[in-house]
Amino acid sequence: MSTSSSAVSTQKRLEGKVALITGGAGGIGEATARLFVQHGAKVVIADIQDDLGQAISQELGEENISYVHCDVTLDSDVGNAVDFAVSKHGKLDIMFNNAGISSPDKHIVTSNDERFKRVLDINIFGGYLGSKHAARVMIPAKKGCILFTTSVWSVIGSADVGHAYVTSKHALVGLAKNLGVELGQYGIRVNCISPHGVATPMVTRPFGNLEKEKVEELIAMGSNLKGVVLEPEDVAQAALYLASDDAKYVSGLNMIIDGGYSTTNPSLSNVIKSLSSKV
Ligand SMILES: NC(=O)c1ccc[n+]([C@@H]2O[C@H](COP(=O)([O-])OP(=O)(O)OC[C@H]3O[C@@H](n4cnc5c(N)ncnc54)[C@H](O)[C@@H]3O)[C@@H](O)[C@H]2O)c1
Repeated sequence: MSTSSSAVSTQKRLEGKVALITGGAGGIGEATARLFVQHGAKVVIADIQDDLGQAISQELGEENISYVHCDVTLDSDVGNAVDFAVSKHGKLDIMFNNAGISSPDKHIVTSNDERFKRVLDINIFGGYLGSKHAARVMIPAKKGCILFTTSVWSVIGSADVGHAYVTSKHALVGLAKNLGVELGQYGIRVNCISPHGVATPMVTRPFGNLEKEKVEELIAMGSNLKGVVLEPEDVAQAALYLASDDAKYVSGLNMIIDGGYSTTNPSLSNVIKSLSSKV
């Protein structure tokens, strides 16, 4: 029997599941939290932006989504967030290690050491702690799903992106692969989601909080796939797929959502175009 597309879109794909999302008070994490709730999941947001996190919880109802203050660089905070999810909902099915910050230092010689370490601390160590505490409760349950928000900069480098950021995202893919190898025996899947630029606060802030639409235009100018804009909700859809039973045999994947950006290098083509415009 075929299912109509409207039936598919109203189907709750995470009914009965419990998810913890770090960095869930804004941007990609918030969009994912909202989509997960729509799909029947009980969600815990773990973030340091208390006002935003609490407001989302009040808006969507504390029975569906709760907020817990959690700095992902602190073992005790991350452990507490996992324990909170389990004590409130009885289990943890999905751990989304999403919290992250960008790095401004693009020149190695003048790079600030403390800033470099801070980016690795939040982006890598935070993901490590999230995985460690999630595995602690998922292993006895013999199932679970661990996700990371990595980046298109997990597979390529860029002169316009800080060294610490690119380093951190490459490292997370390595961590995810190795976790998937260890945890497969317990039925735990581990995957990465690697988006191209999305105009979230992380990206608009370095542009002096330029309007979201203007930042989207800038990103689109350098993108490979034209005519569409990558939004937090698109990344959330990838997380929904990977967290759901639709992806029950998917582990070790780095799902790249970049409209083909990382599959090509337009440098030569741009040179040829600029030459042909001169003749
Ligand atoms: N926006 C993009 O273009 C883009 C592209 C690829 C990957 N990413 C990744 O997506 C993830 C989410 O970023 P975003 O774009 O939604 O940015 P964002 O700034 O909107 O959201 C990041 C969230 O992480 C939280 N956070 C920061 N430090 C934290 C800490 N120490 N402990 C707990 N929470 C902390 C922030 O409070 C914020 O809510 C990041 O890992 C980022 O690297 C973003």
